[in-house]
Amino acid sequence: MEILRTVAELRAWSRRERKDGGNTIGLVPTMGALHAGHASLIRAAKNSVGFVAVSIFVNPTQFGPNEDFARYPRSFEADCALAQAEGADVVFAPSVDELYPAGAATFVEVSGLSERLDGKSRPGHFRGVATVVSKLLIAVEPDKAFFGQKDAAQVAVLRRMVSDLRLAAEIVVCPIVREADGLALSSRNVYLSAEERAQALTLSRAVRQAEALFASGERRASRFIEAARETFAAVPEIRVDYIALVDWATLEPVEIAAPGSLFAVAAWAGATRLIDNAILG
Ligand code: PAF
Repeated sequence: MEILRTVAELRAWSRRERKDGGNTIGLVPTMGALHAGHASLIRAAKNSVGFVAVSIFVNPTQFGPNEDFARYPRSFEADCALAQAEGADVVFAPSVDELYPAGAATFVEVSGLSERLDGKSRPGHFRGVATVVSKLLIAVEPDKAFFGQKDAAQVAVLRRMVSDLRLAAEIVVCPIVREADGLALSSRNVYLSAEERAQALTLSRAVRQAEALFASGERRASRFIEAARETFAAVPEIRVDYIALVDWATLEPVEIAAPGSLFAVAAWAGATRLIDNAILG
């Protein structure tokens, strides 16, 4: 497995593999601190394309001024070992200057969608995500790019971006990977104390409850939201950011749930903001 540091090297790699091997290329964008959720993305990529690049870049533009950019977990050696074990061909680990040269003034903004759900609580977040992912997609020109369903709002923003910019990559969404007790895997779970981790299970409980309600035939959005509010109210230490039932493509609230509707929650366990969701039906 090669480790590449510059966009020029990454572009050359992608062009060479495609031309020489007549092969398909997959991209797995990450911010490192890789866990079993990322491993599942790399595996899915390896099973569906010829060559796989994993990017590891803690993207400063998607963090707000009071967020955790500086302390975001970084574990480059372990990340490379995991990427290699899952069959990645390349790890792309650029510096901040490489992706954002001095004076960089170009950003990608998916208006509307970027102000909903996580974008509402984290202004500018999706602008940063869309900008860095478009830089990666332009450099690699992958056939497929792989993302986790856990960041369901991010998926909606990126799908729209790829469609609007007429990029060629297919966005592949892989299922949420959970701990045995239901907690969705996240690089930020390392921040949680034992008490906060126990509180954090409220998110997956609310998500499972929504899935059960849908399976029982309930369709009124108000019932899904009320049920989740009650579940969160039973654990007062956890602070709800949002509970939402939305159309997954537009992130606009729906009144009646349908197969494919997105039920999503975000909440703070201590100082750590966590998210979870289910695609109903
Ligand atoms: O989902 C993430 O880890 C990040 O938002 C991404 C897509 C790698 C962009 O920095």
